[in-house]
Amino acid sequence: MTKVISTINLKGGVGKTQMTVALAEFLAMEHNKRVLLIDLDPQTNATVMLIDENAWLKKDQKGETLLQLFKDKLDRTSIFDINKAIVKEVSNIGVGIKNLDLLPSSLGLIEIQDSLPLISAGRFHVTSPVIILKEAISTVLYQYDFVLIDCPPNLGIITLNGLYISDYYLIPCIPDILSTYGIPQILGRVRSFKKEAKIGIKPLGIIISMFRAQSRTHKSITPELKHRANLSQTDPKWVPRIFETIIPLTVRTADAADFSASVNTLKQKYGYGTVYNDYENLTKEFLSYV
Ligand SMILES: Nc1ncnc2c1ncn2[C@@H]1O[C@H](COP(=O)(O)OP(=O)(O)OP(=O)(O)O)[C@@H](O)[C@H]1O
Ligand SMILES: [Mg+2]
Repeated sequence: MTKVISTINLKGGVGKTQMTVALAEFLAMEHNKRVLLIDLDPQTNATVMLIDENAWLKKDQKGETLLQLFKDKLDRTSIFDINKAIVKEVSNIGVGIKNLDLLPSSLGLIEIQDSLPLISAGRFHVTSPVIILKEAISTVLYQYDFVLIDCPPNLGIITLNGLYISDYYLIPCIPDILSTYGIPQILGRVRSFKKEAKIGIKPLGIIISMFRAQSRTHKSITPELKHRANLSQTDPKWVPRIFETIIPLTVRTADAADFSASVNTLKQKYGYGTVYNDYENLTKEFLSYV
């Protein structure tokens, strides 16, 4: 059975994209899983980390990115073709990773996202703006073990399309005051959407990202979050499971976002030291929960 997992946080810049891309690469390359990464973020960061920018711009012009999917619903056209949109064997590793595919995003989504709530019942069929992605990918889902969805830092219609098809959501979080402050809000809003949309999405856990061992706050908030994970779910301070694996802030991780870097293995891409090991541990832990 295909498992679909969204990565979300209402706070921007907490390492969602970097972590989602790494998890996709490790699942595909080191664990031989068939993975589709869906880039739902109009900032297109996961897309430019995984495919050549010029090839992507051509696809965007030809209507082979997520822009066309949503535009079709606004314009009442049916130009988008999921099989043409998905890019096979992506990543800057070698000529791409065999089991890793990408459904690319588009900067054009920024302009149309505010119009999406206006999509309503058509004359002959009912279309809700949150089921657009589901309708588009249902025919290809069975080809994958995992579908990872990189969401923008908001819970707008585009993100809700991702949550609608997700079995789980992951919350990457920097262990500081401002980043952890919004966790109950994410949990509450996903819970309301789950109820309203009658879906089964569950939190898979919180992954501590960009951890700085020198920071007193980072060191004190991490055990505090673990304590909150053990509270009763009805306690307003409750948070879902905290992954044992912690992703530290490192220059190596930031450099790995460069698509043009010439590398052949994940060890070359992420370094032979701790970064490779951290992502590999994260992937193993992830696999133990799904
Ligand atoms: N563990 C890390 N160590 C160092 N740099 C990192 C790490 N994780 C991410 N970065 C860098 O920090 C920046 C923000 O990370 P990323 O884009 O993954 O965050 P995000 O949560 O997806 O942001 P947004 O909310 O804008 O989508 C990027 O430049 C990325 O390369
Ligand atoms: Mg991002």
